[in-house]
Amino acid sequence: MLNTAVKIKEILDRYVVGHNDIKEGLLLALIAREHVYIEGAPGTAKTMLAELTAKAANLNFYFYQFHRDTRLSELIGDYIICREPQSGNGGGELISQRLIPGGILTAQLVVLDDITRAPGEALNIMLRLLNEREYKGARLPLLTAIATSNPTQDDYYNEPLDLANLDRFTIQLKSSGLINRGNWEDAISVMDYYTEHIFDKDTVEGFKGDLFQQPGRYLLDIKVGAKVKQQLITFLEHLITNFNLNETNSLLTDRTFLVKAISILKAKAILEGRTEVVPGDLSVLKYLMTFRVPPEVAQRIDEILVDLVEKKN
Ligand SMILES: Nc1ncnc2c1ncn2[C@@H]1O[C@H](COP(=O)(O)OP(=O)(O)OP(=O)(O)O)[C@@H](O)[C@H]1O
Ligand SMILES: [Mg+2]
Repeated sequence: MLNTAVKIKEILDRYVVGHNDIKEGLLLALIAREHVYIEGAPGTAKTMLAELTAKAANLNFYFYQFHRDTRLSELIGDYIICREPQSGNGGGELISQRLIPGGILTAQLVVLDDITRAPGEALNIMLRLLNEREYKGARLPLLTAIATSNPTQDDYYNEPLDLANLDRFTIQLKSSGLINRGNWEDAISVMDYYTEHIFDKDTVEGFKGDLFQQPGRYLLDIKVGAKVKQQLITFLEHLITNFNLNETNSLLTDRTFLVKAISILKAKAILEGRTEVVPGDLSVLKYLMTFRVPPEVAQRIDEILVDLVEKKN
């Protein structure tokens, strides 16, 4: 799995300059088979990174661009009309509608572009499908969905995801542009790249391997000791008592922090070439906190974790 992740990272680095946290978040999500939400200003390579990840991992992939009138039926395949002649009394025809499954029902990796433009009804059902990974009793091949959005609090034409929907995206990433971060060295590298190349996503060669074709049992081989679990609890307790986080201002759900967090920690150990999670791996919690706690707390997660891990060691 480590080799696969390294190859995917190489492909992301070849075409996209900077955005290391987003790249790491995407890799962790793929390894842990969790969903990702990326929010950020226009033109900051969100769609490009989501598409490249799908190409690089060589997965059966479905891209959907949401709009204000998106209907669920557009996302799950094509409906065809069937006509069957009826025998017996008077003959006639039976006309019925049949679904040829496609879209999110058959893809391993789904890119949901501009997700906050979707109307609530289609979105709720779709996200339930993504979460349960089942449709009419049949298991979906889906591994990871990557949703992108522009910031929702400003004057963009979209609506924030409600909290239950937001929580279904385990990994949450905030993307900001190289210019706005004053990252001038990387900005020059982008200009250099486009001086010499024309980017064509169809020429991107994916990694050839079958790790993603098998069930995610490799996660079960990674150990998580009692010490790491205790530190995760101490961290959550610290946020609640010292930053006054509660159900009205945060989304510290049992599903995410007691269940999904363990898979993400294991994915980090895999990325680092280890078979056991160590306290330093807790740094990945920042990818879980992005939109689940108030922004002033989210910004300080790294610092809070360093204090905590140092104190306990
Ligand atoms: N860091 C970068 N490295 C390489 N190319 C970049 C980078 N940032 C932006 N680009 C270029 O800018 C284009 C715009 O990116 P993209 O369409 O993925 O943005 P987006 O964040 O999805 O925007 P929107 O919110 O408008 O959909 C990319 O296709 C790429 O050509
Ligand atoms: Mg985009």
